[in-house]
Amino acid sequence: MRHDSPQPAPGTCRDANRADLAQRYQAVRDQTRALAAPLSPEDCQAQSMADASPTKWHLAHVTWFFETFVLEPFEPDFKPFNPAFRVLYNSYYNGVGEQFSRPQRGLVTRPDLAEVWRWREQVDERITQLIAHTDNADALRLIGMGLHHEQQHQELLLTDIKHLLSINPLSPVYQRAWPLVSVAPVPARWVECEGGLVEIGHAGEGFAFDNESPRHRQWLEPHALMNRLVTHGEWLDFVQDGGYTDPRWWLAAGWDWVRTQGIRAPLYWTLHPEANALPTVFTLHGDMPLDPHTPVVHVSYFEADAFARWTAATHADQRGARLPTEAEWEAAAATLPVQGNLQEAGALHPMPARASTGLLQMFGDVWEWTASSYSPYPGYQPTEGAVGEYNGKFMVNQTVLRGGSCATPASHLRASYLGCGWRAACSASGQPDVMSGQYTKLLENQSDLSILD
Ligand SMILES: [Fe+2]
Repeated sequence: MRHDSPQPAPGTCRDANRADLAQRYQAVRDQTRALAAPLSPEDCQAQSMADASPTKWHLAHVTWFFETFVLEPFEPDFKPFNPAFRVLYNSYYNGVGEQFSRPQRGLVTRPDLAEVWRWREQVDERITQLIAHTDNADALRLIGMGLHHEQQHQELLLTDIKHLLSINPLSPVYQRAWPLVSVAPVPARWVECEGGLVEIGHAGEGFAFDNESPRHRQWLEPHALMNRLVTHGEWLDFVQDGGYTDPRWWLAAGWDWVRTQGIRAPLYWTLHPEANALPTVFTLHGDMPLDPHTPVVHVSYFEADAFARWTAATHADQRGARLPTEAEWEAAAATLPVQGNLQEAGALHPMPARASTGLLQMFGDVWEWTASSYSPYPGYQPTEGAVGEYNGKFMVNQTVLRGGSCATPASHLRASYLGCGWRAACSASGQPDVMSGQYTKLLENQSDLSILD
């Protein structure tokens, strides 16, 4: 059954250069294969929790996107690789039809991994042919969107496999090259921002998702941003000061979460109080000693907010510290080049800040929590067609994150890009302008996963 052809918004992707698009298509698909290369078929099959997906599912679903949204409406004499895959690998697109149960994706042992690779190869050949021969600009724009969709799933693949490996008591290693080197610690410092009338949202010629538009005005009061991300060492102070057992710092829902889940530290930390030793931290490089200068990662919004309240109340030089709004973050980030510890760096782990002036680590390392709710910008219009379900229907009960992470591809990132970690801020109100550090997480938070699926 064919569905209505999705129509991308004008200007969503203007890469009309066939050679460039073909080259980018090959590069993104090859990178997904490279990320899966260290994994066994058993690694690719397992699903560690309802909000994570097996690697095999990610490999199949991104291929489903190209087959369903590009080949089905635009390929002459379209014939699916397997008609049953249309339901099996549909994530959440009601406009396409039924979906297989998300929490049970790990139970789908057929098709096997080899067949999923064969599907990918066939779709690659067909998309390459379409790029070479179609005159339909919508088809080319949707291929561009499909590549950004696949790059989102590259980050999900890494995040989901990290969670899966973390459950194994053998602490398996995804990548053996431990990236951390000894650096001089960078002191936390506030970078003042004047505020005033600013514009945020996508403004450029390149690709952007519909939730980054329209560009619009925002008023900012004078504030300050911390120069770098919050570190493991600073977070350890919070833990050792009883931060997780003191309700003063927590939102009501956050306190309920801490108590019912028995949360005592960030995800992947193992505390060793009996040995009076530093925590260890599970990483894609195995279980490692906590490095005090590395940015903290995998903390929930509740934890980030609680840390800000604690640090504002207990540190005289941090009074007023809070999470920044997304407008405060974007106005500052838009003045900076999109560079940092991103997927291409190969570290796949946050790295300590290196001494420099101005705002550091705004892009890469860890997604940064903001205080802003995920809501449509004034005048927001979802992309037309079934692919319009990509973002708009998730704009409730979620909080915006910014800046990408060490798992985000550089070519996928820009200042207006929303995800769902954080950097603290502080408003000027008679006190010195301050902005606290950042906090972060990758994608264990359920809200992230629901956006990116
Ligand atoms: Fe997806």
